Amino acid sequence: MEEKEMEVVPGLAGIPAAESGISFVDGLKGILEYRGINISDLAEHSTFLESSYLLVFGKLPNKEEFESFSHDIKFHTRLKLKVLRLMEDLPENGHPMDYLQAVVSAMGMYYPARDTLDETVRYESVVRLIAKMPTIVAASHRLRHGDAPIAPNNDISFAANFYYMLFEKEPDPLIEKIIDVLLILHADHTMNASTFSARVVGSTLADPYTVVSSAVGTLSGPLHGGANEKVIEMLRDIGTADKARPYIEGKIDRKEKIMGIGHRVYKTKDPRAVLLQKYAHSLFDHSEAKNTEILAIAEEVEKVCQERLAPKGLYPNVDFYSGIVFQAIGIPPELFTPIFAVGRVSGWLAHWEEQLKTNRIYRPTQIYTGTHEVAYLPMDKRE
Ligand SMILES: CC(C)(COP(=O)(O)OP(=O)(O)OC[C@H]1O[C@@H](n2cnc3c(N)ncnc32)[C@H](O)[C@@H]1OP(=O)(O)O)[C@@H](O)C(=O)NCCC(=O)NCCS
Repeated sequence: MEEKEMEVVPGLAGIPAAESGISFVDGLKGILEYRGINISDLAEHSTFLESSYLLVFGKLPNKEEFESFSHDIKFHTRLKLKVLRLMEDLPENGHPMDYLQAVVSAMGMYYPARDTLDETVRYESVVRLIAKMPTIVAASHRLRHGDAPIAPNNDISFAANFYYMLFEKEPDPLIEKIIDVLLILHADHTMNASTFSARVVGSTLADPYTVVSSAVGTLSGPLHGGANEKVIEMLRDIGTADKARPYIEGKIDRKEKIMGIGHRVYKTKDPRAVLLQKYAHSLFDHSEAKNTEILAIAEEVEKVCQERLAPKGLYPNVDFYSGIVFQAIGIPPELFTPIFAVGRVSGWLAHWEEQLKTNRIYRPTQIYTGTHEVAYLPMDKRE
């Protein structure tokens, strides 16, 4: 096609970048499926490891397959001493997302996986990356606070171990379930910036650690991860439920955006928000949970938004309730996006595997808007 006949679509919005059988969103009905299975069934009945297997290998594992996969994951949760030493040398004020990106990238040197067309290399990489992401996030959290990292405990579940490595105590069963659900809900979400990044890097046949570190870097930008932190800030700013209506109406009247509301694809309430709201209630009914006012404020905000913004197709998205759930289980805001990455790694790896099946290196085009035949000026003639 002639350049002049082409048109740039900003952000490639609405342009299919791949054929994919991994996840599906119906934005009007509020449905999210992984490999055809509804997310609410997975949240209720599955585990993050089983859902990861489903995403990456395309089907639910049978008993033997699941035992073998879980065993392999547990076998690989530890970090090499040299990797821990490398982390100790990173700046304590570095963001945990930067730790994650740097360490995942460095792991590629410890576990060379250049032959990405070899199935065994791919399997081992999938296992190592899913297994070690929580250990890296927990170790970076502890190191940044001057504490020693905690070695994984592989006698407890994947989710319980993540909590244990962060806080040096095992979670009670409800918190363990909620961490697992948070990981499941974040594991994939069709084509988005970090997934696209994983596919582009994968298409060059770069190794999987490079693929995942590039996706982590892409997720670190505030336009991708991070709206849940802003929701918490807003709810704290509101203070009490009775102040929610004037605060939100004022914002809407001033044409300011309400954080955690609206979505490019969902034009109804995000199914992940529905599930997280339910879990937020279970948590707040739970004795250890503090600051229950925050949920009351959030629900009042949702009520006002329902009246004022729902007619425009704007409803709560996943970030509206995820921050509330995170903070209720003691997770600090700077870990919200790293935990998103711990879940999303399964989706990135599933897309990487899928990309390699019918691979063609990504090579889009551009519309040149620069000049031509410009004379080269010697330095003493330039302004
Ligand atoms: C997610 C988001 C970028 C989706 O944007 P979008 O579908 O492209 O919608 P637009 O930004 O084009 O907005 C369409 C209209 O709705 C309004 N709108 C969108 N999100 C809004 C929000 N959160 N609060 C109030 N108004 C909002 C816009 O101002 C615009 O109004 P107009 O038609 O009068 O100009 C947007 O809703 C947003 O910024 N939400 C808040 C941030 C957030 O929660 N992000 C996490 C997403 S998972």
